[in-house]
Amino acid sequence: MKLPSQFFKPLAIGAPMPVRELPVRPERMIHFFPPHNEKIRARVPEMAAQVDVLLGNLEDAIPADAKEAARAGFIEVAKAHDFGDTALWTRVNALNSPWFLDDMAEIVREVGNKLDVIMIPKVEGVWDIHFVDQYLALLEARNGITKPILLHAILETAQGVKNVEEIAAASPRMHGMSLGPADLAASRGMKTTRVGGGHPYYGVLADPVEGAAERAFSQQDLWHYTVAKMVDACISNGLRAFYGPFGDIKDEPACEAQFRNAFLMGCTGAWSLAPNQIAIAKRVFSPDAKEVLFAKKILAAMPDGSGVAMIDGKMQDDATWKQAKVIVDLAKLVARKDPEMAAAYGF
Ligand code: GLV
Ligand code: MG
Repeated sequence: MKLPSQFFKPLAIGAPMPVRELPVRPERMIHFFPPHNEKIRARVPEMAAQVDVLLGNLEDAIPADAKEAARAGFIEVAKAHDFGDTALWTRVNALNSPWFLDDMAEIVREVGNKLDVIMIPKVEGVWDIHFVDQYLALLEARNGITKPILLHAILETAQGVKNVEEIAAASPRMHGMSLGPADLAASRGMKTTRVGGGHPYYGVLADPVEGAAERAFSQQDLWHYTVAKMVDACISNGLRAFYGPFGDIKDEPACEAQFRNAFLMGCTGAWSLAPNQIAIAKRVFSPDAKEVLFAKKILAAMPDGSGVAMIDGKMQDDATWKQAKVIVDLAKLVARKDPEMAAAYGF
């Protein structure tokens, strides 16, 4: 275990100082785009204006013969545009793939000063983060990068889930984690053929009722355990947790339900794979206007966060004040990005 005094030192001479606090910005959706597709590249400015995080995907879903084109396409768009308040991320190929080294080296060299976060797929343990951390520090130093590039791990192998707490604590470069339900299902040998979401056979059957022909069956959330484990590992280390992809693009109500479970359990956002999922993520991960207005009343009634107050017949104390603060802080971030929400929240 590294000494605490060494933890925040740069890993290469000339690399920027690691951050002690994550940048504060809305991250309701991480919007994936395939950078090898020229038509989609042309829509980047329009996409960037709508989303909180824009991510150029180089890994799965990009065909092997388009990997170099995707990398070059990402570099081209990153150079060409000013992303303003929108964060720019990329998902590189896996650490054992033939593309990882060049993904990292070329992207950091060409656009390292524009890049906020690199998403690392199939992270299995702390050793993966340590390797990337060191390599990235050397690249930052060589290329004069001034602000450290953060890392975001995809939790998508059984071993990764087992090691999630060590992964979360591996480096000050860690931004957070996303649940990768498709690869995780494969890694665990789950009997599904889907990208996230529920399964009609996973649920509980109600007790038999005398005289009733049918017993109610309630579908359960397949991802509950993993999301909870990821949220605890992330939040206890000051990181952010995200639900990953929902592959059935047309099934908007099911996507919304999955995103909402993640939001209620403590996730900051989810991936959006298509424009309709951007709207769903905005709906789900922006705090509810009624809740925000009520939370503002709590903060106003207890300015120093202590004591007790009655608001609309409900008792408020230090604990509800802290909950209210979480909601109002998040609402302020969303309001900065979204004028409609700002009006609804009364900011
Ligand atoms: C995402 O990468 C997943 O495998 O679900
Ligand atoms: Mg995956």
